[in-house]
Amino acid sequence: MKNIAIFASGTGSNAVRLYQYFAEKKAEINVALLVCNKADAAVVQKMQSLNVPVYILSNKEIESGKGLLKKLSEYKIDWIVLAGFLRKIPDLIIKGYKNKIINIHPSLLPKYGGKGMYGMNVHKAVVENKEKESGISIHLVNEVYDDGKILFQKSCALSPKDLAEDVAKKVQQLEHDYFPKVVEETINQSTNEN
Ligand code: GAR
Repeated sequence: MKNIAIFASGTGSNAVRLYQYFAEKKAEINVALLVCNKADAAVVQKMQSLNVPVYILSNKEIESGKGLLKKLSEYKIDWIVLAGFLRKIPDLIIKGYKNKIINIHPSLLPKYGGKGMYGMNVHKAVVENKEKESGISIHLVNEVYDDGKILFQKSCALSPKDLAEDVAKKVQQLEHDYFPKVVEETINQSTNEN
């Protein structure tokens, strides 16, 4: 059994989807912890109602990473999955979980990545630039924002009439359809290789 910690800061639709996918499949993957930097984020209540332990940490604590690393080892966390976590992951955690941190980004990287590019900011920029497509990127996390090895991308067609909210809906559907599967495959593949 591999334990994963989901890091999320917002609504938590992907966190819930990941939890449900692994629980329904009785997969060898267990969502063992939610890490969140905002006590009032919707994801906190959602995961608590699924009986997932929640660890709330301050921005200062994230920057140092020490207490977080200790907490992850307490919960025997093997993998970290970022599902809308809006703070930079400290180097201490990146070193401790080398090639074991997976992020989802709501665009076709390298387009619309980097600092400040998250959630609706991404979709607004996509619409402003009259892009004909957008999509999702699932990638490993390294020291640079949105720069790690791409594991999976999927695109969706956009219509000239689409508003940022329409793009968000299309992209979210792709996230819910593919993120759990890609996380599962990545973890299983790495387990089989070792
Ligand atoms: C998702 O669209 C995810 O791709 C994005 O935050 C959203 C979280 O939604 N992540 C980023 O923008 C990271 N740069 P959710 O809270 O409903 O899962």
